[in-house]
Amino acid sequence: MSAPFDRPLLGAVDGGLGQDAGVSPQAGDEERVVESALRPHSLTEFIGQPKVSRQLALVLEGAKRRGRPPDHVLLSGPPGLGKTSLALIIGSELGTAVKITSGPAIERSGDLAAMLSNLSPGDVLFIDEIHRIARPAEELLYMAMEDFRVDVVVGKGPGATAIPLEINPFTLVGATTRAGLLTGPLRDRFGFVGQMEFYEPAELQQVLRRSADLLGVELTEDGSAEIAGRSRGTPRIANRLLRRVRDYAEVEGDGRVTREVAQAALALYDVDVLGLDRLDRAVLEALVVRFHGGPVGVSTLAVAVGEESNTVEEVCEPFLVRAGLLARTPRGRVATEAAWRHLGQPLPRGGPPLGSATPGSAPGAEGVTEPLFEA
Ligand SMILES: Nc1ncnc2c1ncn2[C@@H]1O[C@H](COP(=O)(O)OP(=O)(O)OP(=O)(O)O)[C@@H](O)[C@H]1O
Ligand SMILES: [Mg+2]
Repeated sequence: MSAPFDRPLLGAVDGGLGQDAGVSPQAGDEERVVESALRPHSLTEFIGQPKVSRQLALVLEGAKRRGRPPDHVLLSGPPGLGKTSLALIIGSELGTAVKITSGPAIERSGDLAAMLSNLSPGDVLFIDEIHRIARPAEELLYMAMEDFRVDVVVGKGPGATAIPLEINPFTLVGATTRAGLLTGPLRDRFGFVGQMEFYEPAELQQVLRRSADLLGVELTEDGSAEIAGRSRGTPRIANRLLRRVRDYAEVEGDGRVTREVAQAALALYDVDVLGLDRLDRAVLEALVVRFHGGPVGVSTLAVAVGEESNTVEEVCEPFLVRAGLLARTPRGRVATEAAWRHLGQPLPRGGPPLGSATPGSAPGAEGVTEPLFEA
């Protein structure tokens, strides 16, 4: 399988069915600007992720008491769950500066060496998408993380010499959507690994209430429940849907976001009750109606909906699998019973190809249903 979420997906998605980015877990450039206004600034403001949050609080408190920078922190999990937010919070909880870069942005190890030697004592260095860091830079990072030293190479060719240079003690915070792609030596150098989980609807409602306050939107309890249920467990999507529903409420109503307003707005944007959008539904419909539940190959499915197979595989499938609507089997893609129910289609006479399936545990598909994200 090619890497999900490893590249910007919006370009590919814009083609074909003309699906918009409504429920993509990735942020567009403009969205990143809007998002910074909604970021929580302290651990107490940070909603959900009880485990990571509590563990991290201990790590930070312990470090503060000892007067030393905390262990290096790795945050891993799907896009939009709050990794960048947490990285910035670590800096503000420690009262230190956060220098931000990303794996793909570090082209030469010299750039990283310069960045590391410019850190003040106790600073946080945040490397986003750390799984995409180039090998030589990664090796430089090993020594920096362990001994707070970097080798600066002077000269070129056979005459080049490496001069070790002390750097200030710092805390590296790495974020990754693909922890499985991290090399062992790099992963081992993180003293704390926080695995971010998808959010529960009640937590997303809290996120929505907070964002509504910040945006000055009146949001009713049932309105937030409606949006939360369609947000795919992802705060980024919840915030995005809230902004769209707010627009609708302002133009078509009195600005208040109620359940009815949220339902009408999200129907207009083709986001259904489970958070499936137009392309997701088209794929599911093709699988259930045209191919009688499968098994069918992903490229055939893609042709049926007039979309590229990469898009189907990387954008639609992961969520359909997680929602328990589709399973990947060695013979192809198969719809689960839940898919028929979700589409309101009568079940085929002999039952669905997989028999009765509960979400996420399609019989016959165990062990072959690929995980969405590596642990
Ligand atoms: N726990 C939370 N509480 C409140 N808001 C949150 C929380 N987590 C995420 N958000 C909101 O979701 C948006 C996306 O979060 P963030 O950018 O931190 O995700 P990310 O995991 O870094 O995503 P990516 O993998 O795409 O970089 C932020 O603007 C923030 O407002
Ligand atoms: Mg991020």
